[in-house]
Amino acid sequence: MTATVETGWSNPLRDSRDKRLPRIAGPCSLVIFGVTGDLARRKLMPAVYDLANRGLLPPSFALVGFARRDWDDQDFGQIVHDAVRDHSRTPFREEVWERLSEGFRFVQGAFDDDAAFDQLSEVLAELDRQRGTDGNHAFYLSIPPGAFPTVCEQLQRSGLAEQTEEHWRRVVIEKPFGHDLRSAQELNAVVNRVFPEDAVFRIDHYLGKETVQNILALRFANQLFDPLWSSHYVDHVQITMAEDIGLGGRAGYYDGIGAARDVIQNHLLQLLALVAMEEPVSFEPKELQAEKIKVLSATRNVLPLELNTARGQYGPGWQGSTEVPGLVDEEGFAADSITETYAAIAVEVDSRRWAGVPFYLRTGKRLGRRVTEIAIVFKRAPHLPFDKTMTEELGENALVIRVQPDEGITLRFGSKVPGSSMQVRDVNMDFSYGQAFTESSPEAYERLILDVLLGEPSLFPVNDEVELSWKILDPVLEHWAASGRPDTYESGTWGPRSADEMMSRVGRTWRRP
Ligand code: BG6
Repeated sequence: MTATVETGWSNPLRDSRDKRLPRIAGPCSLVIFGVTGDLARRKLMPAVYDLANRGLLPPSFALVGFARRDWDDQDFGQIVHDAVRDHSRTPFREEVWERLSEGFRFVQGAFDDDAAFDQLSEVLAELDRQRGTDGNHAFYLSIPPGAFPTVCEQLQRSGLAEQTEEHWRRVVIEKPFGHDLRSAQELNAVVNRVFPEDAVFRIDHYLGKETVQNILALRFANQLFDPLWSSHYVDHVQITMAEDIGLGGRAGYYDGIGAARDVIQNHLLQLLALVAMEEPVSFEPKELQAEKIKVLSATRNVLPLELNTARGQYGPGWQGSTEVPGLVDEEGFAADSITETYAAIAVEVDSRRWAGVPFYLRTGKRLGRRVTEIAIVFKRAPHLPFDKTMTEELGENALVIRVQPDEGITLRFGSKVPGSSMQVRDVNMDFSYGQAFTESSPEAYERLILDVLLGEPSLFPVNDEVELSWKILDPVLEHWAASGRPDTYESGTWGPRSADEMMSRVGRTWRRP
């Protein structure tokens, strides 16, 4: 296989490149802050290995961990090894591991420790000399946002944030980007004081998923769907991200944050933007972002909020055959916690294409099963020339993008039931990744980490998108804050009764995927 090697600087000639060729990152190092955390162990380190295994990292690559733990390079190597063994997608290959692990370094220190950052600077300079990382460094902040200012200032003080013509410096930040519009603006100001906007990569890992990127292919590579993609034919859209897991062990992050901030502000509004946006002039980052920004600017809550939103907190119940506790009995949550674990909102996009079409966004923990999907639900046929009893089992036509698990797309429509009468019933036409493609999809973090190293910003929300999403969510959060406790729902069910009522009031129902 041939491969192009690029430095990561944006290259005006890159359009002449055959885009089917895999791109390999140029010489660089990746520094992870928060390397002892769950995300680093389950996603980041395995993704780095998977990239190496796929031959997408350069020989001059280094992975540097920064944390308070009293580890040396070998201890760090062992931690990465265990994480890779437990969580990587691709098979373990000794020769890949040997080569990759030669570039592992660990720096011990606290975020406010000048000496530790000076040492980090020395370690990186040494890697430049020894491994040829060429002064190109990406700093991945997998840490609580409260620590961003300190780390950014330290990177600036130690000269590590400084880009030149010869080398790039990038910062990767994990959500939450603030907890409302104001705090997001403050956070952004802190980051932008140190890094220019084009050096900031905000991770929304949903954008790294194959099935999410496929929304663009589905919509803009085909002629079939576009004529249907508007208020003329679409009744409403349901975007669901349901999880069966609870929040045991995650109180530190989740308590006081809740489902809407955790997931709707970022993943679900990004999915909405991809479903509702107009065709971009090209897939250049700026063009793509411009279309998403237009949609988010035109998105508003359906009012009144008390009838068009719902929230809940899981109580005890059964997840399959296991009895599970309610949120307030999970470790770290107070008995009077009002954190919502289920959130549903209704929004509309004020545009010619979408006027009057509600988009329902819902997410929850401890629901019936883990599933993320986007259902485009079509209007009913204006006239049915059948006896009424023949269409009792006919629902609405729907196109369902199955984001995960069981990735694929389903088209649901009515079909005649074989037999002597003209009875019509819903059937599904299925596209499934597992059957259509032999290769398994890369993990979202593989794609996103590679894009950071390549300096490819298309799949990273820009600050405007973050702020517009908070503008949509803030009024809902304020309304909830003023409305007491969330409803309780039984674990293993599909959320609080208020969510069903929100839909039944307008003659609709949530899908039960
Ligand atoms: C994260 C949320 O962004 O996404 C978690 O903070 C959630 O609460 C996770 O569990 C789900 O990710 P995925 O890729 O498994 O759908």
